[in-house]
Amino acid sequence: MIIVDRISEMQALMRQYHREGKTIGFVPTMGYLHEGHAALIDRARQENDIVVLSVFVNPLQFGPNEDFARYPRDFERDRHIAEQHGVDVLFHPEAGEMYPGPLTVQVVVKARTDVLCGRSRPGHFDGVATVLTKLFHIVMPDRAYFGLKDAQQVAVVDGLIRDFNFPIELVPVPTVREADGLAKSSRNVYLSPQEREEAPALYQALRAAAAAVDGGERSADAIRRLVKEHIEAHTHAEIDYVEVCSYPDLAPLETLHGTVLVAVAVRFASARLIDNIILELP
Ligand code: PAJ
Repeated sequence: MIIVDRISEMQALMRQYHREGKTIGFVPTMGYLHEGHAALIDRARQENDIVVLSVFVNPLQFGPNEDFARYPRDFERDRHIAEQHGVDVLFHPEAGEMYPGPLTVQVVVKARTDVLCGRSRPGHFDGVATVLTKLFHIVMPDRAYFGLKDAQQVAVVDGLIRDFNFPIELVPVPTVREADGLAKSSRNVYLSPQEREEAPALYQALRAAAAAVDGGERSADAIRRLVKEHIEAHTHAEIDYVEVCSYPDLAPLETLHGTVLVAVAVRFASARLIDNIILELP
């Protein structure tokens, strides 16, 4: 595995792979890797000649009161996991390499952000779209792999790739969960033992919503209420949102039809957790 921390070195290497006719699969991450990230790497490994992983905690996508400074980091561990999963190139730039000075141009996401996490994290998706624009130009991948755990991020990246004509295929990968259903997340380490016990209630609530839809429920209000009540009954978390919307447009729905995203975000004492399910309706 080659470890690169310079943008110019990365671009020279990637150009060489392209000249050799090799396909490049890219998995962008903020590190502290877990099985969710590994699933993206494994999928990229199956579908490409070269797999590139980036580990970069992007300051631009954190709000002033968010966890940028304390976001968990362990590069040695990440490097080991990357190697085990067959990553060819690990891109690990310093913040000063990615942002040598204030930006003169920034990407602003104009749709799909007035709901879900976009509403509670203003500017977050502008930061994500900006760093991904840079990373796409640095890595020049044929395919980019994103987890559906962050379904809104997938929807935003879909728009970014289309609107800016990146010659990149977006590959969404299903959410990887713990045995009890909790979606794997780098932020799960923040949970107290009691919160960790309560946290699977998010996915249970989403499963209950899926079962209700299976049973014929089509009211978005009823689904929202059911999810909210389940979480309130089984956790001490404060609900940030429970939303039901179309996917990937993220338009609000009253009556469920087509591809539907049911998404939740909650705040425990020191961790904000998100989860979702996507339902296909006739
Ligand atoms: P990060 O939170 O590190 O996640 C990197 C990728 O792993 C994302 O595509 C995310 O959806 C995926 N992922 C996380 N947990 C997952 C799980 N349990 N199952 C499947 N996939 C999972 O998302 C980011 O970083 C950043 O916003 C980034 C795209 C790197 C831009 O800075």
